[in-house]
Order: sequence, then C-alpha cells, then structure tokens
Amino acid sequence: MEEKHYIKWTDIVVAGKAYRRSISPGDAPEAVFGVSGENITAREYCNVHGLWKGEGQWA
Ligand SMILES: [Fe+2]
Repeated sequence: MEEKHYIKWTDIVVAGKAYRRSISPGDAPEAVFGVSGENITAREYCNVHGLWKGEGQWA
C-alpha cells in the first residue's frame, strides 16, 4: 500500500465482538483474525474511498 492510498484499519464483527487490525502504508493489504463464526461482518477503511462493509461467512 502507498502513502497516498492505503487501508487504515480492517475489522470483523463476530457474535457481537469486534476484532480490529491497524494497517500502515508499506504493509500488505491483509489481516488475519483467529476467529470464525456465522454472520460475520467485515469492514475496512481506506483513506481515499472510505468505509467498505461486507457480510457473510468466512472460514
Ligand atoms: Fe481505496
């Protein structure tokens, strides 16, 4: 990710609990969460495009 365009943070919400990871320019645009469940909401915040949100099941 670049200084001008990067994901500031990403999180997931599982069973009402949020798990967040901060990401910095120069990092890979990815995060690993050691949780699983149903009806997971994933969000990320990009400094250019703003908030993205998705829902579903991820293993
Ligand atoms: Fe973006």
